[in-house]
Amino acid sequence: MKIGTALSNSATKALLLGSGELGKELAIALQRYGVEVIAVDRYPNAPAQHVAHRSHVIDMTDTEAVKKLIALEQPDFIIPEIEAIATQALIDIETEGECTVVPNARAIQLTMNREGIRTLAAEQLKIPTSNYAFAESFEQLQAAVDGGIGYPCFIKPTMSSSGKGQSMVKSVDQLKAAWDYAKSSGRVDTGKVIVEAKIDFDFEITLLTVRAMNERGEIETHFCAPIGHRQESGDYRESWQPQAMSSAAIKASQDIAFKITNEIAGLGLFGVELFIKGDAVWFSEVSPRPHDTGMVTMVTQKQNEFELHARAILGLPVDTSMHSTGASAVILGGLDAEGVVYEGLDKALTVPTSEIRLFGKPEAFVSRRMGVALATAETVDEARTRAVKAASMIVIKP
Ligand SMILES: Nc1ncnc2c1ncn2[C@@H]1O[C@H](COP(=O)(O)OP(=O)(O)OP(=O)(O)O)[C@@H](O)[C@H]1O
Ligand SMILES: [Mg+2]
Repeated sequence: MKIGTALSNSATKALLLGSGELGKELAIALQRYGVEVIAVDRYPNAPAQHVAHRSHVIDMTDTEAVKKLIALEQPDFIIPEIEAIATQALIDIETEGECTVVPNARAIQLTMNREGIRTLAAEQLKIPTSNYAFAESFEQLQAAVDGGIGYPCFIKPTMSSSGKGQSMVKSVDQLKAAWDYAKSSGRVDTGKVIVEAKIDFDFEITLLTVRAMNERGEIETHFCAPIGHRQESGDYRESWQPQAMSSAAIKASQDIAFKITNEIAGLGLFGVELFIKGDAVWFSEVSPRPHDTGMVTMVTQKQNEFELHARAILGLPVDTSMHSTGASAVILGGLDAEGVVYEGLDKALTVPTSEIRLFGKPEAFVSRRMGVALATAETVDEARTRAVKAASMIVIKP
């Protein structure tokens, strides 16, 4: 394993496709090993661009634009941070063999479309998931619900994230509106929606799973302690680690995470989203990259999820152990404005153990994540109370 000198001919270069808050922490982790970091996004001054060596603004769904940029930068690693990427460009680049797509181009293609990953998990790997069907017309959707999925159910565009275009339908009269919403709000209109039966879970977790090289040069799978989280409108609001769960549920969760990541392959960290009820576990989806709920690991683990991803990508050994119980709470914009001002940091940081990260996004929206509060404590409850309190003390003004 060799690393060159950033900004010289020998540089080891990483191209981040997507430069949000997760990319920003990953850029910092990579910089610590002397990697040359190039941050790309669709708008200027995205969070990771604040801390990268260079940045570019392109339409990442444009195959030609992505290829041109890769030809210009000649990175060693291409690290997708978002789902909306021209995957054909990544497949072609990977075939040429000049650089590594993290974890690999197929993983990016499979996970950007719910149909790809769901079919792989449920039908090929026989992993338990909610009952589901795909529909290309309202009539097909109605037939699938009537034919066994039932109510309540979730309707989602096959290509979307952060809850966009997603709704929960409790009865037949809400189905048409959910169909219309899913059709109009996906990232890309694939012409299809997925309908999933609602799983009546006790809680949901993200199981961060790392595929990294061990000292014998073999790929080994490592698991972080389960992260519990609370979602609102399809986006996370609070997360904590560890989530208490039965040893049978942990074992089942790890088995599922192993199966799915082993099939996806490659090196890196994955966020495996699971629903838990007693000892039963259902797979929901997987991110082949750090997960937003995993920001809590910045205060709980010896190596946070960004450090783990960086190490795994570079072929370095990892340690997924925790040093403290902790929690995270998001700081939302609360208004639509550019160049906002943050007040109350001084007060927020009087909350014991609290830390605040402000992402530096150039523009705030009412429900856009602008920062995160983190805290540790003896118990998850106390850590959550502290993180939520610290987050609530940050006031965002025009
Ligand atoms: N079948 C289901 N049963 C119960 N709850 C569900 C189901 N599908 C989704 N949810 C709830 O909605 C949340 C968001 O769903 P999902 O992860 O599929 O959406 P997403 O748009 O991919 O969101 P993100 O990108 O933030 O992960 C889940 O974390 C869960 O709380
Ligand atoms: Mg999700």
